[in-house]
Amino acid sequence: MFTDTHCHLYHEYYEDLDVVRENANKNGIKNAINNGIDQKTNEEVLNAIKVNDYMYGAIGIHPECVHDYKEEDLKFIEEHINDEKVLAIGEIGLDYHYEKTSKKEQMELFERQLKLAEKYDKPVVIHSREATQDTIDTLKKYKVRGVIHSFSGSLEVAKIYIKMGFLLGINGVITFKNSNIKDVYAQIPLDKILLETDSPYLTPHPYRGQRNEPMYIKDIALFVANLKNISLEELSKITEENIHNLFFKNC
Ligand code: NI
Repeated sequence: MFTDTHCHLYHEYYEDLDVVRENANKNGIKNAINNGIDQKTNEEVLNAIKVNDYMYGAIGIHPECVHDYKEEDLKFIEEHINDEKVLAIGEIGLDYHYEKTSKKEQMELFERQLKLAEKYDKPVVIHSREATQDTIDTLKKYKVRGVIHSFSGSLEVAKIYIKMGFLLGINGVITFKNSNIKDVYAQIPLDKILLETDSPYLTPHPYRGQRNEPMYIKDIALFVANLKNISLEELSKITEENIHNLFFKNC
C-alpha cells in the first residue's frame, strides 16, 4: 500500500474522479493528498476531501498565483487550516522560472503562509524552482517542518534540506531516461523521502505523454525499490511511516 503525497485532482483535469479513485484502489494506492494552488482550487480540495474517503488535502497559494490572490484568500486558509483531513499548507514557495519579476511579492506571500504554518503547527508543502538559496534562507526564519515537493537538486542541497528537518518528494521525474536525479536519490536515506505523482503533470515512464494519476505511484515505487535494492513491502512500510511522522504527528 502506498500514498500519493502530492497531486492536483481538480475537475479542470479530471472529469472522472471516480475512475481515478478506482484506478488508485486497484493499484494499491490507499490515500492521496490533493494540493490546492489558489482560492478556487483550495475550495475544490476542501469539497473533494469531504466526499472522497481516500483523499486528504493541503491548502495554500502557489507562487505562480501571486498576482491573483486576495487578502481574504489567506484568511480562508487560516479559517480552514484545522478542518478535518486538511494536513498541510501547500503548495507554497518560490518560483523564479516563470515569475522572475515578482520575487518580492512571492517572498511576502510565502512568508505569510509560513507564519500560518508556524502558528498552527502545520507541515508545509514546498515548491521551489530556480530559487534554492532564497527558499533555504526563508525556511530557516521559521520553525516549520514539511516536504520539498518534486525535489530535483544536488546531493549537497538535499543534505541541507534534510539537516533542516525536511523530507524530499520523489515523483515520475526519477523514471525519466534523461534524468540524473536517481543518482542523488541513491544516496538519500529512505526515511527522508516521500513518494508523489504531482498529477496531472510529470507522468512516469513508460506512460509519458498520458495524463498522470495517483495510480502511477506504483511505478515510481517500483523504480525506487529497485534503486534502493529493497522490496516494495519494505519501501511501503518506510514511506508510510514517514507520512505518519510528518502529517499525522498529533493524531
Ligand atoms: Ni504540485
